[in-house]
Formats: sequence, C-alpha cells, structure tokens
Amino acid sequence: MSQLLVRGGRALAGEVTIQGAKNSVLPILAATILARGQVVLRGCPALRDVDASVRILQSLGCEARWEADTLAVDTTALNSCGISDILMREMRSSAIFLGAILARCGRADISYPGGCELGPRPIDLHLSGLRDLGTEIREEGGFLHCTAPRLTGRELVLSLPSVGATENLMLAACGAEGVTVISNAAREPEIVDLQEFLNACGADVAGAGTSSVTIRGRRPMHGCEYRCMPDRIVTATYLCAAASAGGEIFLRGARECHLATVTAALRQAGCTIDSDGTGISCLCRQRLRAVRPVRTAPYPGFPTDAQAVLMAALLRSRGATVFEENIFENRYRHVDELIRMGAEIRVAGRVAVVTGVETLSGAAVRCTDLRGGAALCVAALAAEGETRIFETGHIDRGYQDIAGDLRALGAAASRTE
Ligand code: EPU
Repeated sequence: MSQLLVRGGRALAGEVTIQGAKNSVLPILAATILARGQVVLRGCPALRDVDASVRILQSLGCEARWEADTLAVDTTALNSCGISDILMREMRSSAIFLGAILARCGRADISYPGGCELGPRPIDLHLSGLRDLGTEIREEGGFLHCTAPRLTGRELVLSLPSVGATENLMLAACGAEGVTVISNAAREPEIVDLQEFLNACGADVAGAGTSSVTIRGRRPMHGCEYRCMPDRIVTATYLCAAASAGGEIFLRGARECHLATVTAALRQAGCTIDSDGTGISCLCRQRLRAVRPVRTAPYPGFPTDAQAVLMAALLRSRGATVFEENIFENRYRHVDELIRMGAEIRVAGRVAVVTGVETLSGAAVRCTDLRGGAALCVAALAAEGETRIFETGHIDRGYQDIAGDLRALGAAASRTE
C-alpha cells in the first residue's frame, strides 16, 4: 500500500505542465468505439480510471497501445457487446460505454456501475434518454440487457444537466437515424472536448457548451489524432496548493477560461492570478482571507470537484467561509481528516463552515475519495511537520503523479510503497 508524505511549511516556487483531463479522456475512450480505424490520443494521462477504460476496450476485442504519453486505440476488431460486472464496478463512469456500444452493435449487456463514495450515483437519465432513442432495456439482477436494432433521433429533455447522461446520449445519437437534440444538456468544457473529438472522427455534433446539443446521426466515422484538453480540476488543485503554502507557481497549458469561478474565489482570498495563452501563474504572499459563500453548481458554476481543494486552501484564512455542496450528497468526507490536522469545520447537511485557524499540524490521514485525497495534500502543505496520507489509490484515479508535480512546484512531497 502506498503512502504520500508531505512536509509542510515551505513556500512553493516552480512550474508544471498540466496533464490531460481525466473527465475528457474517459468519454473519448468510450467514443473510440464509434470510429472505425486508429485513434491516436496525445497527452493522455496515465491514470487508474484510464487504465480501467483501456481494459474495458480490450475486453471488447479492441486494441490499445501506449507509447510514452500517447494512447493508440483501434476498435475495428470489436467482437463483443458485453462488459463484465468486475470491469463495470471498477470505475463509476463505465456507464458511458453503453451509448457507444449500442450505437455500434445495436445491443449491449452491462451491469450497474455500482455504489459510489460520493453517495448515490443513479443512471436513470442515461437510461430514459436511451429508451427515448428506441432502446429496449431489460433490468435483471443488477444487469442491463439493452437492444436497439434501430436508434432514431428525436428531442431529449434532461431533467437536470447531467454530464454523464449528456455524453452517453451524444454517443448513442451518433448511431441514430436522423437528428437528436439534447435539451438542458450539461455545458462543461469536457462536453465541448467530446464534441470536437467526435467531429474530428467524422461525426456531426453542434452546440456543446450551450444547453442544447444537436447530433446528426449515422455519419461515417473514422480514426483521428487528438489531444484532449488540460485538466481543469488538477489545475484548480495546484492553484489551491499555492494558495495554501504561499509562493509563486506557473501551470503550463492550464486554461483560466475553464475555471473562472475558482480563480475568482482565490483572487478574493488574496492571490494574484494571471493567465496568458501558455498557462496560469499564481502568486500568494500573505495570509488568505475568507471568501464569499462557495456554492457548487453545474458549469459554469463552481465545480463540485474543486470544493474540497478550495476548502483545504482556506483552513488557515482570516475569517469564516461557507460552502454549500449541491451536486453530490456525500462530498464532505474529507472534513474529518482535515479536522485531525487541526482544522475548524462544522458540517450541517449540505453546508460546511470553515473558520480559519492559526496553525495546522501534520497528522496521519486517510483519503476518502479522489478530490478529498487531493485536499489532504493541499492542507498538508500548510501544516507544521509531516503529514502521512494513506489510501492514495483514490488519488491515482485522477492525478498522474501528484507527489512529482508538487515537488516540481517546490514542495517536500514523496511517495513510499
Ligand atoms: N444524476 C441523476 N441521474 C442520472 C445522472 C446523474 O440523478 O442519471 C445526478 C447525480 O446523482 C448527481 C448529479 O446528477 O447528483 C450530477 O451528476 P452528473 O451526471 O453530472 O455527474 P457524472 O457524470 O456522474 C461527472 C464527473 C464527476 C463530476 C460530475 C459533476 C466524469 C467521469 N465524472 O460525473 O467527476 O463531479 O460530473 O461535475 O466526468 C471527479 O472527477 O472526481 C468526479 C467525481
């Protein structure tokens, strides 16, 4: 079992290149199923969830090969339309393969992705949209047997702008006869990236980034070369790391337009943030101030995935900050671990109030989930002494090398097996 060791109290100084976005690469890997021919994904992050997607593709008969940070996928030889229960449970977002397999094969057999550390993660919107496109779904003992001999485009209205449902339905609609319009679609930058990838493969998708995405289905699709967008949550994490530890860093490749709500909060707290076409710089020299209430919301609102890392950055701020988590039920599991380090946080339902303290102290803490784990690293940078972070497998799902990146940014961070 690996651990992360972080010794706090050192101001950051350094530069890293931001890895490719996990939440963009995962749907793109599912989308490769629609393309006949080789897809070459450049700047693909080596993550546990990416590895799980690769194993799903291989179990379907597809080829996938890494060369440095490039992943080449060829789905021409796909010979199965079922994903095993073990593979489905490995990653919550495995459900995204459903739309792509249906579009390509006309049937799919998968199980439910299983429970989640963030609370219930239903896929009812994915399934009702697929039904509306003409899929017959039989649910039996946790398995979904889906048949769609002929998917037909139509208007789909999502009752909430689910990221996963929007992506799944975009993929299914690529195989549907006629035009599909997804209304109340999620507007996240990762949806735009998926649209650009699909269009690079020959699909006809428009409107991503707005609430209405239009897909003209059944276009012949081929392989392509693609570089996915930089990870905006990894960017937010390292900005919060600089805010927490103090210092000056540069995040090469990062795009501020993807995380305006996060940089606005950090500026309010007292950080100086600048961006140009090449990346984002962040300078923090004084003790942070508390900020106005942080309410998580679908994009362009404040991202739920950045809630924990911003909270960690504000633990030693002057004053109190209110957080309101509106996306997932169970997204304050990092709070108890932060309290072990001396933080003062009170949680009542979806609200958490962080009152800044003078000092934090290094402790033995446990990652409860991916972003909660990253938050422990952010807090540890500002703590006196050493923090030992256990159960780091959660972090590996989304950060390629968090200890290496933090070292490049000037922190004393290492990983031991
Ligand atoms: N929801 C439903 N029914 C559905 C789908 C979603 O009720 O059919 C609910 C969820 O339970 C949740 C809310 O809608 O309360 C939002 O879920 P959404 O579908 O938008 O999220 P997701 O697609 O499951 C993606 C990211 C998450 C990120 C959320 C919100 C990927 C692989 N995952 O999840 O990322 O938090 O959008 O932005 O893209 C992470 O990277 O740490 C992570 C959890």
